[in-house]
Amino acid sequence: MKAIRVNLKSDSPGITLEEIQRPVLEHADEVLVRVLAIGLDGTDREILQEHYGSPPIGEQSLTTGHESLGIVVEAGAETGFQAGDLVTCLVRRPCHEQDCVNCRNGHADFCESGNYTERGIKGAHGFLAEYYKEQARYVVLVPKTSLHYGMLAEPQSIVEKVWNQVQKIQQRLIWEPKTALILGSGPLGLLGAATCRVLGLDVYVWSMAAEDSKQGQLAKACGAVYQQAEGDGSSGSKASLSEYVKKIDRSFDLILECTGYSPLAFEAMSVLGAGGVLALLGVTPGARKMEISADTLNLSIVLENKCIIGSVNASRRDFETGVYRLGEIEARFPGFLQRVITERFQLEEVHGIDFSKIEVKAIVEVVPRQEWERLAQGSSEIQYSFSV
Ligand code: BGC
Ligand code: ZN
Repeated sequence: MKAIRVNLKSDSPGITLEEIQRPVLEHADEVLVRVLAIGLDGTDREILQEHYGSPPIGEQSLTTGHESLGIVVEAGAETGFQAGDLVTCLVRRPCHEQDCVNCRNGHADFCESGNYTERGIKGAHGFLAEYYKEQARYVVLVPKTSLHYGMLAEPQSIVEKVWNQVQKIQQRLIWEPKTALILGSGPLGLLGAATCRVLGLDVYVWSMAAEDSKQGQLAKACGAVYQQAEGDGSSGSKASLSEYVKKIDRSFDLILECTGYSPLAFEAMSVLGAGGVLALLGVTPGARKMEISADTLNLSIVLENKCIIGSVNASRRDFETGVYRLGEIEARFPGFLQRVITERFQLEEVHGIDFSKIEVKAIVEVVPRQEWERLAQGSSEIQYSFSV
């Protein structure tokens, strides 16, 4: 079968389309999945440009891809899945440290040792291949009605984890959130905006993209107020986030930082409303430095009971909520999710992708889209079930 491999260890790094062994089921709790499509995000961009990620121990290269949508073609007897099921897959697998209490208790997304693996990212091959196999406990059923946007379940799971955390944290006070500010209008920002709208919040999206860009249009399509940032938005720049928030005279109960531009995280701390939560979601492998008004910032965080959290990855429950929420978003804003997918590539084109040209979200159609319906209906090709 074909797989996209990134060589992360040699002097001649590069992205190759390789012919590798198709996985074979060995245990009754495993499923074999035929990949339909894989979403690409900023993490993939960093990996494909060799700034992030690591291959499995002892190997040179990594099969990329962690935002998956596929069809079960073989299901072990103990999986509860059937050939023809539409599925997505969790990304992280627990570490093996005995004293990592979260990994030992099924919360690998809160791993403390840092020795977790992530399929397609860190120490484990991903899904950007024609097939993958996985234990059923990491595989999540997706309704067939979500066939054309189900690969967004993984980024949506990131949003759900945050929302879940925020709800738990906010039990510290009587919290009646009304307003959310989303920084960034990439896929995560837009999914965050649509989610907050579905949850009944007034949503503001602040981002560098032009107002008439796809991002701006999509933000407005889900009922958010869109504001284009001038400059980089950090304090001291032409029109900082603080100035914008002062101008619109709103206070934010929730802020999601989805730009991956770390200086904005600090700017966001100052504009967060009293008792609010700022969630930082950007993975920033660089080494950027900045000066901050430490006293002023500290004072406002203390006097206004502000809470700042970092959040990464997601649990099975977050994936399940994510799958459900995608259905809610589709019902409320029909077509929105498919409009988020702005570029479509084939496996053969991955090595040449210019990430700077991607408008919102790129996916790789491992199987051409025209064939998805037929495969999801369970064509003769996948009508068999496998018992081990
Ligand atoms: C993925 C997460 C992962 C994180 C850090 C993100 O792109 O969606 O699942 O934990 O990168 O590697
Ligand atoms: Zn761990």
